[in-house]
Amino acid sequence: MNLSAREKAAEANAPHRDKIIAAKRKLRAQIPDLKERFEHLTRDIENQLDVIERERAEGIEPVPQLDFNELSTVSEAQIQRIKQRGCLVIRNVFDDERVNAWNADVATYFESNNYLERQKKGAAVDNYFSTLASDKPQIYGVFWSRAQMEARTDPNMAIAKRFMNRLWKFENLQGQEFNPDADLLYADRVRFRQPGDASLGLSAHVDSGSIERWIDPAYQQVYREVFGGDLQAYDPFDAYQRTSTVEIPSPAVCRMFRSFQAWTALTRQGPGDGTLQLLPVANAMAWMLLRALLDDIPEDELCGAAACRAMMLSDQYHSLLKRGYGSIPLMQPGDTVWWHPDVLHGVEDVHRGTGYSNVMYIAPAPDCAKNRAYSDLQRPAFEQGLSAPDFAPDNFEVDFKNRFLPEDLSPLGRQQMGYPA
Ligand SMILES: [Fe+2]
Repeated sequence: MNLSAREKAAEANAPHRDKIIAAKRKLRAQIPDLKERFEHLTRDIENQLDVIERERAEGIEPVPQLDFNELSTVSEAQIQRIKQRGCLVIRNVFDDERVNAWNADVATYFESNNYLERQKKGAAVDNYFSTLASDKPQIYGVFWSRAQMEARTDPNMAIAKRFMNRLWKFENLQGQEFNPDADLLYADRVRFRQPGDASLGLSAHVDSGSIERWIDPAYQQVYREVFGGDLQAYDPFDAYQRTSTVEIPSPAVCRMFRSFQAWTALTRQGPGDGTLQLLPVANAMAWMLLRALLDDIPEDELCGAAACRAMMLSDQYHSLLKRGYGSIPLMQPGDTVWWHPDVLHGVEDVHRGTGYSNVMYIAPAPDCAKNRAYSDLQRPAFEQGLSAPDFAPDNFEVDFKNRFLPEDLSPLGRQQMGYPA
C-alpha cells in the first residue's frame, strides 16, 4: 500500500480509531493460536487457488453455472461447489426477446428524459470508491424504469432469488434469520458501458462493510469461528447475525442485507467486454480478517480497510488472492450472476469489445427486520420518483416520462415493495 492510500485510510478511520484498537486487542486475545490458524487457512486458500488455476488452464469455468430450468434438480455436489465458490451464473432467467425490449426501454428512458444533460447539471457526489485505483463505473442513477421494475418483480426472478436464499442456513436457535421465500425489492441502478470505455473499471473489493467486519459486535458473531472458535466449523453461508450487522452510515453503502450481490445481463458480454471479475473463494474473507490481526500490522490498521469505503484487496497484504481472481464467463441477455457478500469482485478496467455492456443490478434482499426498515424508507421514494434512499439524492426521475408507478405493480410486486396484501 502506498503512503497516500494508507493516509487516506487513516483519515477515514480517525473517528473509529479507538474502536479499531480495542477490537483488535480483544480479537487477538481470544485467538491464542492466531499464527497457526492463519497458516492453516492460508494452506486451505492456496489449495483452492491451485484447483481454480488448474480448471482455468484446462478450460473449465471456475464460476459454477446452472440453467434456470435446472434449479429444481440440482445435486448436493453442485450445491457444495456453489457454496465453496460463493458465486453462481444462472442462465436464461429471461428470454432474449424480453431482455432486448428492456434494454431498449432503459435506453429510451434515458434519452427521452434527457438524463445525461440533467446529470451534467448537478449529480450528487459520493466518494465510496475514491480509494480504489480505477475510476468510477458508468452507472446511471435511475431506479424506477419500467424495465427495472418488471425484471425485479418477475416470477422467474423470484424463483431464482428463492434458490439463492435457500443456499444459506437461515434458521438457528433464535429462529429464522430471514425468510428465504419472500423478497423485499432493493432498488439499484443500471450499468450502460460503451465499447472502448477505459474509465469505468473497479479494483477488487467487497461491499457490505469494511472495518465493520472486525469492530461491529454482530460481525464478530458472524465470524465467531474465525475469531477464536472452531475454524473448521466456519460456514460463510451460516446466516446467524448477518441481518443484525450495523454498517457505518455512508453514501452508497447498502442498508439492506443482500444474501448475494447480483446483476442481470441486458446485453451479450464476455471477458474483455468490461465485465465482472470475481475471486470464486467464499472463505477468502476469513483469511483477510485474520491477516489484519497479525503482528506486522499496526494496532490501528486493518490492511487498508477504510471506514465508509469499499474494502479493497491490498497489493501489499493480499497478493495471494490475485491468483484466483478473474473475469466471469460470457453472459447472454437474460443470464444472471450472483456473488456472496464476502466475495471479492470488481469490474474490468477496459471495455475492449464492440457492443454496449449493460446490466441491471438486481439482488435478493430476503424478508427480515433489517430489510423491512429500509423498505419502509424506499416506498415513499418510489411513490415520488426520488432516488432510492441508499444512493446519492439526484432525484432525476421525479418528472421522468414513462416512470413505473405504484398502480403498475403486480400483487407480487406490491408484496416485494412492502405494501399490505
Ligand atoms: Fe461492489
